[in-house]
Amino acid sequence: MIRDLTAVLGSAHRAVLFRYLVALFAYAVAQGLSVALLVPVLSDLLTGDTGGAARWTGWLAGAVLVTLGLHYVQAMLGFQVALVILTTLHHRLGDHVAALPLGWFDGTTVGRLTRMGTKSVLSIAGSCAHLLQPLVTGVLTPATVVVVMLFLDWRLGLATLVCSPLILFAARLSVRLLNRMDELNDAAGVEASGRVLEFARNQPVLRAFGRTTDGYAPLEAALEEQRAASRKQVWMSVPGMLLGGFAVQVCFSALIGVGASLALDGAVDPVELVALLALVARFAGPLAEVGDFAAVVRAARNDMGRVRAVLEEPPLPEPERSAPVVVPGAVEVDGVRFGYPGRGGRSGEVVLEDVSFTVAPRTVTALVGASGSGKTTLTRLIARFFDVDAGTVRVGGVDVRDQSTAALMEQLSLVFQDVYLFDDTLIGNIRVGRPDADEQDVLEAARLAGVDEIVARLPEGWETRVGEAGTSLSGGERQRVSIARALLKGAPIVLLDEATAALDPENEAYVQRSMDALRATSTLLVIAHRLSTVTGADQIVVLDEGRVAERGTHQELMALDGHYARFWNERHRALGWRIAAGTS
Ligand SMILES: Nc1ncnc2c1ncn2[C@@H]1O[C@H](COP(=O)(O)OP(=O)(O)OP(=O)(O)O)[C@@H](O)[C@H]1O
Ligand SMILES: [Mg+2]
Repeated sequence: MIRDLTAVLGSAHRAVLFRYLVALFAYAVAQGLSVALLVPVLSDLLTGDTGGAARWTGWLAGAVLVTLGLHYVQAMLGFQVALVILTTLHHRLGDHVAALPLGWFDGTTVGRLTRMGTKSVLSIAGSCAHLLQPLVTGVLTPATVVVVMLFLDWRLGLATLVCSPLILFAARLSVRLLNRMDELNDAAGVEASGRVLEFARNQPVLRAFGRTTDGYAPLEAALEEQRAASRKQVWMSVPGMLLGGFAVQVCFSALIGVGASLALDGAVDPVELVALLALVARFAGPLAEVGDFAAVVRAARNDMGRVRAVLEEPPLPEPERSAPVVVPGAVEVDGVRFGYPGRGGRSGEVVLEDVSFTVAPRTVTALVGASGSGKTTLTRLIARFFDVDAGTVRVGGVDVRDQSTAALMEQLSLVFQDVYLFDDTLIGNIRVGRPDADEQDVLEAARLAGVDEIVARLPEGWETRVGEAGTSLSGGERQRVSIARALLKGAPIVLLDEATAALDPENEAYVQRSMDALRATSTLLVIAHRLSTVTGADQIVVLDEGRVAERGTHQELMALDGHYARFWNERHRALGWRIAAGTS
């Protein structure tokens, strides 16, 4: 746990933690010593040596005062550590997350981060202030008592020494049992809440298929599983909880037995025995309590583990100095192999293999290929959401790994299918493309992309809030906003994933117009779904199962009569079909 804490705190704050631990250890030992001083006080009192008792009581009072002082010091230092955690952990997490590859952020990681920023950090801070202290005193105070007993009577001391691992072992075993049950229950809980979310999200689908009255089988199953896990947890926890207390009782009885037989043999003074047993009683309690803290310790450790996992996630290696752009607007993919990072950071199944092509500045390249052939993945690699496993991606003539994220992003505009709209006005959402743009430029970009046409239909015009809590826009409209952002940014290279849904003629006209505007100033790499984009491209790259199958212009590829000709004929037929259906 302390190792987790130092990892989470970072090297800059180790000193604070170290000071706290020293004070805490001193406090625990002092507490043990003051308890041990009871023995001479008691035995002197019982034998009627009032002078000796008074002297020892003086020592005892001194020890208690020192203990009190140390208690205060360690408590203050504990709060200081907690405060440091609260103030630095958010910054550490924020700094680290900003350096992580964009590909790291998906649905689950975002959820994890949210939880971490709120709950976990608080729990870690709290664990320092409230948890470490009972844990350390629970172990160190009894240990001090044992050492003192060894001095006073080595036989009883030895017996106590033998007992302590037993008590600790029983406590640990019981913790482990409880742990296991908690984990099972946790997993069932996570599964069930996932299913509840799914059930809520998929209401439209479920209703469309009339699946609301007879329940949703996966959810029912998950809930039943959770019920079963809870029941099992209750039953299985009982032996775990009893075990710790039972061990303490057994050890205490054994020690009394040892002490009594020693006293009967005359090896120990009965008076001293009573005093020593008082010590033992003080010794067993805290040790068993350590087990009681197990649940809290476990939660804190889990939280620390989660934070640590994020902090240890390798950031994108960035060069000390960003290499300057050599060929503005050029994109080169050279012998690239890539598989999405699986568990444990290893690359999973290969998604792209030996992909090579170049895009000259100010030209249009259309990427086509079946669903799952790797088109989106390729654009993610160009924007360095991930690093390639082999080969090189060059943007502006320079390996993306030799550029800082800022320098790379300055050259790129991304228009992807899943457009995120901020909960802001439309103007605000377009301005994201270039925050310092003046009003005129924003409006011009909006007009080119056809956003002004959307505005005309909105209740509050330009001031309408869109995005999460505001008015929803259709997929085509969202993409228009995203294109307006790209137009405003004016980056030398635009990566565009065209909307898959068939665009209505009006939308189509706006997309065409903005693409014409974009190609006048930028290099365009388009995942093309519209036939006009494909035929108008300077170069078409056909991907098939992660490899470049064909490359060339429309005429060249049609003449090949291969993948591309098939793709084209199918699309054409589908289009003809749709138009025919529309006119009949
Ligand atoms: N985040 C991811 N993690 C793991 N595998 C992924 C991820 N995204 C895509 N894949 C896999 O990589 C392969 C290529 O996917 P990609 O999205 O690049 O295809 P695509 O050509 O864009 O398809 P579509 O035309 O349907 O958009 C697929 O097998 C897909 O399952
Ligand atoms: Mg795709």
